[in-house]
Amino acid sequence: MKGLFGPTAFRLGQSVLRTMDPEAAHGLTIRALQLGLHPKQEEPDDPRLAQTVWGLDFPNPIGMAAGFDKNAEVPKALLEIGFGFAEVGTLTPKPQPGNPGKRIFRSELDQAVINRLGFNNEGQAAALERLRSGCSGVVGVNIGANKDSDDRIADYVRGIESLSDVAGYFTVNISSPNTPGLRDLQTPEALAKLLAAINGARRESAKTGRMPPLLVKLAPDIPRHDLGAIVKTCREAGIDGMVISNTTLARDGLRDADFAKEQGGLSGRPLFERATRMLADIYLLTKGELPLIGVGGVHSGETAIAKLEAGASLVQLYTGMVFEGPGLVGEIKQAILDRLEQRGESDLKALIGSGAAEWAEQPPL
Ligand code: FNR
Repeated sequence: MKGLFGPTAFRLGQSVLRTMDPEAAHGLTIRALQLGLHPKQEEPDDPRLAQTVWGLDFPNPIGMAAGFDKNAEVPKALLEIGFGFAEVGTLTPKPQPGNPGKRIFRSELDQAVINRLGFNNEGQAAALERLRSGCSGVVGVNIGANKDSDDRIADYVRGIESLSDVAGYFTVNISSPNTPGLRDLQTPEALAKLLAAINGARRESAKTGRMPPLLVKLAPDIPRHDLGAIVKTCREAGIDGMVISNTTLARDGLRDADFAKEQGGLSGRPLFERATRMLADIYLLTKGELPLIGVGGVHSGETAIAKLEAGASLVQLYTGMVFEGPGLVGEIKQAILDRLEQRGESDLKALIGSGAAEWAEQPPL
């Protein structure tokens, strides 16, 4: 690792950040990444970590989840740290401030975060400018609808129209708990309508430019018995993949009672089991035919490997990095290589879905 600050200084900086207000700390982290103060991976990734998914080349399967770089300010820095891909956004057509007041809460005790940001972002035009400057690596774009929109479907269509030239892939975010009514788009009828409109826009954009792969990101709070119909709708619409999952409204397993009372979406360790079981369910429902991104509670090599085994082709994390720092990415990659070696395999594919049946058998939470 090289960079203006070595990993030790960066770790020191991280512990200072953890004493600060979470949103202020996040702002400083983005600033540090913009200034290039982060540790940079010097060696290229081991080729055993590489995969081509949706025709895109991923040097390793570990990505930064949406919400960290809402305005596409630092995808290049994230790739330099060693992430195999970065997802920017959620981006809405118009800029919007998000919810008022304190809106990110961190619990050391539970190693978790609750946020009720409400899609604060500078809008798609500002992000487009930044993404136009390009960056070598996969940068996915996560799109959503403005809070005050009277036509949410039209907002997603605008995302496709304005960002198809720069998106490595699109994630349609219909699973944030912080925009009232947004999750209603997860019902099969609403989803079918939304995906039909999005597909129309994709076909149009393909005529003059690119048609990035399309992923749908779901909430981990969807009852298990509803997943089949949702997956069927997604497959009929011909989507390319799914992101499982967003934050949860559930509060089970939390030890920090004051923290648990905060409204918003919970991420981090307490989300791990719920999101991983849902990932396995979706993997089995799609018979492993649809590449999935597994996200929720990854904080170690073991938990990242569990996502692969439950059926993820690619893994994302956010909250894990808040608590563990950027060194986590390298640690996870080494753990995956060690696991491949133990199993006498040289291809990530050997891990993907190998534990899905076992995960799906876990009792509902
Ligand atoms: C998020 N997440 C998120 N997801 C999304 O699709 N669009 C968004 O704008 C955001 N914003 C956001 C902000 C904050 C502060 C957090 C902590 C999370 C959800 C994120 O991408 C991921 O799905 C969950 O956080 C679960 O993963 P982790 O954090 O447990 O690794």
